[in-house]
Amino acid sequence: MSADRIPLDLPAVAKLADLADYVTPLALRAVAELGVADHLADGPLPVDQLAERLGVHAPTLLRTLRALAARGVFTEVEPETFGLTPLARPLRAEHPLSLRDAYPLLPADLRAWAFFAETLRTGEPGFPLAHGVDYWSYLAAEPEQSARTDRWMQSVNRLHLRTVLPAYPFARFGTVVDVGGGTGAFLAGLLARNPAMRGVLVDLPHVVEAAPDVLAAADVADRCRIVPGSFFDPLPVGADGYLLKTVLPGFDDEDTVSILRRVRTAMRDDSLLILIEAVLPPGDVFDVAKLFDVHTLVLTGGSHRSPEHMERLLVEAGLRLLRVIPTATLSVLEVSPADPGVSRS
Ligand SMILES: C[S@@+](CC[C@H](N)C(=O)[O-])C[C@H]1O[C@@H](n2cnc3c(N)ncnc32)[C@H](O)[C@@H]1O
Repeated sequence: MSADRIPLDLPAVAKLADLADYVTPLALRAVAELGVADHLADGPLPVDQLAERLGVHAPTLLRTLRALAARGVFTEVEPETFGLTPLARPLRAEHPLSLRDAYPLLPADLRAWAFFAETLRTGEPGFPLAHGVDYWSYLAAEPEQSARTDRWMQSVNRLHLRTVLPAYPFARFGTVVDVGGGTGAFLAGLLARNPAMRGVLVDLPHVVEAAPDVLAAADVADRCRIVPGSFFDPLPVGADGYLLKTVLPGFDDEDTVSILRRVRTAMRDDSLLILIEAVLPPGDVFDVAKLFDVHTLVLTGGSHRSPEHMERLLVEAGLRLLRVIPTATLSVLEVSPADPGVSRS
């Protein structure tokens, strides 16, 4: 059938153009980093004034905000004057659940995506093809990029503390080791809400450098030990609870089993491991984890997983999945040693 005679499904054509949009994700990240929302906190501003305050090119800012306003992020309240919308408000630095740092525009990640055709052909991450080193080595050698990534994690942790903590009885743990806990944002929040709990933070040396400030800001520094090191090496032993929060999706199955074995070796027989991460729902159900899964592959070669997939890896590492608790953001997976005779739920 010729192109002139085939039924024209205009909604499908429009939807495809929408889904193939390059602009929204990048423009949103750029204005978040620039702090546009902070300057609109007291009310709408003409774009010329806004551009002057931000030190940017006014006509380009106008075109960028117009594109975002068409998506509901900002609103053009009168010609060339923009204000905040519910989508733009959390982009303010002062917002109690600020997401301003949650969407960094990271050129290194974009360069990795340029190799996606190769990733699709081979299953290998694009990041090393673009940069000559793996993602984690790159961050270790680039302090500014690493700090941006850490700020991103700190930002999303505010949301995770709010949504994940009420979903699980963390107060049962006297001591908690947060394995790959970043700069300590989640652990600090956990300790602050549980005054009798003590914590141990394990992450790479260049990452935990920023942890003393994060722990001091939450007034929990005296209850938290910082252990710089790799989770591929032996971990602090004998804690009541071990956390792995949004860590395992950054690694392929083989590395994931290695990390889990390190945790199992450090656990007592009655310790629990709590995984806090997105799990993949089956079928066509939309979940942002299905998008992150591909982004993770591009960056690190890692993978988000279904509960069944995770259960297989846990078994390989001598662990047992007890239950999966969904929350409004991530899921909580409660895990015990698989050894016979041990059962807690
Ligand atoms: C996605 S972040 C999650 C951070 C933290 N758990 C959170 O949820 O905020 C992954 C963390 O794994 C850490 N990481 C990567 N490789 C590591 C290694 N070999 N040993 C210890 N930590 C590592 C990174 O430095 C980073 O802080």
